[in-house]
Amino acid sequence: MSSFLSSSIGKKLIMSLSGLFLVLFILVHLILNSFLMFDSTGELFNAGAHFMAMPVIRFGLQPVLAGGFLIHIIYAIILTIQNMKARPQKYASQNLGQSSTWSSRNMFVLGGLVLVFIVMHLMHFFVPMQITGEGLKSVTIHGEEMHNGAALVKALFTAGTFGIVYTALYVVGAILLGMHLAHGFWSSFQSVGLSNSIWRTRLEKVGYIYAIFIAVGFAIIPLYLHFFA
Ligand code: HEM
Repeated sequence: MSSFLSSSIGKKLIMSLSGLFLVLFILVHLILNSFLMFDSTGELFNAGAHFMAMPVIRFGLQPVLAGGFLIHIIYAIILTIQNMKARPQKYASQNLGQSSTWSSRNMFVLGGLVLVFIVMHLMHFFVPMQITGEGLKSVTIHGEEMHNGAALVKALFTAGTFGIVYTALYVVGAILLGMHLAHGFWSSFQSVGLSNSIWRTRLEKVGYIYAIFIAVGFAIIPLYLHFFA
């Protein structure tokens, strides 16, 4: 088992399973964030965030999520180094695979940029909401006191010149994430063995639709909050 996991296929499998897990997280995160647009009072978003902060979710799911991200990043680095070492031989022996080599290099750069975005993003929201409480007010919804995360998010995207910069950064982050997912989605299915030639075309299409949905969704929220909140 351990030799399988350290083989190239094993590493790709781990990479794909962690990627598919993140695909689900991103969808849930987008749905929760969309509450910011559908309810201008922020109550729906705050109640959703409050629910997600329940100890069982916070202490049960958060470590799994952090682990999923870490595994995905560590294996991306290992596989990229492996691919780089193998590349000269590949070119000499078969003169194909340009697309896979290009994609993997592209995926690594895109993934790295998305990571920079995520670190910045965690500092904006996760740190104040779950660690320092800085700039965070309370609100009472249906008799229950909770963090006013909606106000924190709105404040960031509407804060004068900085608001414009943050809005632009989040739109760029959403586009980079969409590009990363456009390739990552079907490639994950392929690595877990769920993609033959017919399914590859279908999964590629589903992957593009998913990626566009995620990119547009995450880009629209800061734009909406900046211009209309
Ligand atoms: C419109 C764009 C986004 C907004 C407004 C937003 C908002 C938030 C907020 C308010 C939190 C803190 C939640 C809490 O601690 O209760 C959070 C956490 C987080 N966000 Fe985002 N987010 C956005 C985009 C993204 C994107 C594109 C990604 C990654 C691909 C991402 C990844 C995360 C992660 C990993 C966390 C920590 C999860 C946790 O609380 O355990 N976010 N986001």
